Amino acid sequence: MDSQEKLRDEVLKSVAQAQSLDTLEQIRVGALGKKGSITGLMKELGALAQEARREAGAALNRLKDEIEGAIHSASSELKDKELTRRLAEERVDITLPVEVETQGRIHPISQTIDELTAIFGEMGFTVAEGPHIEDDFYNFTALNIPPEHPARQEQDTFYLPQRQDGSRRVLRTHTSPVQIRTMLSQRPPIRIIVPGRTFRSDHDATHSPMFHQVEGLVIDKASHMGHLKGCLIEFCRAFFDIDDLPVRFRPSYFPFTEPSAEVDIGCSREGGGLKIGAGGDWLEILGSGMVHPKVLENCNIDPNEYQGFAFGMGIERIAMLKYGIPDLRTFYETDLRWLRHYGFVPLDVPSMVGGLSR
Ligand code: PHE
Repeated sequence: MDSQEKLRDEVLKSVAQAQSLDTLEQIRVGALGKKGSITGLMKELGALAQEARREAGAALNRLKDEIEGAIHSASSELKDKELTRRLAEERVDITLPVEVETQGRIHPISQTIDELTAIFGEMGFTVAEGPHIEDDFYNFTALNIPPEHPARQEQDTFYLPQRQDGSRRVLRTHTSPVQIRTMLSQRPPIRIIVPGRTFRSDHDATHSPMFHQVEGLVIDKASHMGHLKGCLIEFCRAFFDIDDLPVRFRPSYFPFTEPSAEVDIGCSREGGGLKIGAGGDWLEILGSGMVHPKVLENCNIDPNEYQGFAFGMGIERIAMLKYGIPDLRTFYETDLRWLRHYGFVPLDVPSMVGGLSR
C-alpha cells in the first residue's frame, strides 16, 4: 500500500505540473500504458491470494480511475489556456481602416481590338501582325506607291536615318504593309485582320503621332465588291450594336485598291451632340477597295486567277465614336482617373478549363 500511495502522489504531482499536452501524454503512458507503473502493479496481482487480490485490485482500479480523471481535467485545462492565448493573439482590430484593393481596367484600345477581333473572327478572319519599323518596299513600293508619289507626303512619314546603301526605313504609316508580308508568305485563300500600331508625324485633338489601325485582307478566287460591302456593313452594325445603322460607300482613291471606297456610317449632329445611327448625317470611318492587280503581282499572285478586297480603319477613331471619348490624346496620357472612367472591368467569366468551378 505504501508504494501505491507513493506512486499516486508522484503521478498526480507531475500531472499538476505538466505544461503541455505532450507531457500529459507521456505521464499517461508512463502510468497506464502497456509498460506503465500501474499496469505493472496490476500484473503483480496474480501472485496474491484471492482475498488480498480482490482488495488490492479494487484499490488499483480506483487509483487508475483517479489518475485518468486527473489527466483528463488537466488536459482540458491546458486546451482552454491554449485557446484563450490564441484568441488574444489573433484578435482582429475591426476599427483599422480597410485597404481598398483597386481592380485594374482594360484600356479602351485593347477593348476595341478585342471586340473587332471577335466580330471578324466570327466571319473567319485570323489575326496577323508585322513589324513597326518597315522597309520602304513593304510600306510603299509594293503597295503601288512609287517614289515621288504624293501619298508618301500625305502620310507624314517618320523616316529612320539613312543606311549605308542609301535606303531609309520608316515607322509604318499604316497596317497595309502586313498585306504584302502576308501575301508573300502564304498562298490564298487569305482572310486576315491586322490590328496594330501605326505612326505619322501629326498631333492634335484627333491625330496622334502613334495610333492604331486595323487592316483587313481577303484574297481568293471569287471575293468581289459585293463581299466587301456585305462584310463591312455587317462589321459596322455589329461593332456599333445598331442593327439598322446606315452604311454608305463613297468612291475614293488609294494607290493599292481599285476601285476604292470610303465608308461612312449614319449619325445625327442635332443639338450639338453626336449620335451614331439614323439621323441624316454621315461620318467617315474607314477606307477600302478591291486589291489592285499590281499589288497582287508584286506579291507573285496572278491577278487573273485571284482577287479580293482590303480595308483599313483607325481604332482610336471608332473607339472614340462608340464610347464617346472626345480627345484622342487622352488615350496615351496614362491618367488612371481617365482609365477608371473610360476603361472596362474585366469580365469575371468562369473558366471552362477544368470545368466551371473556380
Ligand atoms: N492604308 C489606308 C490608310 O491608312 C487604309 C486602307 C487600307 C485603304 C486598305 C484601303 C485598303 O489610310
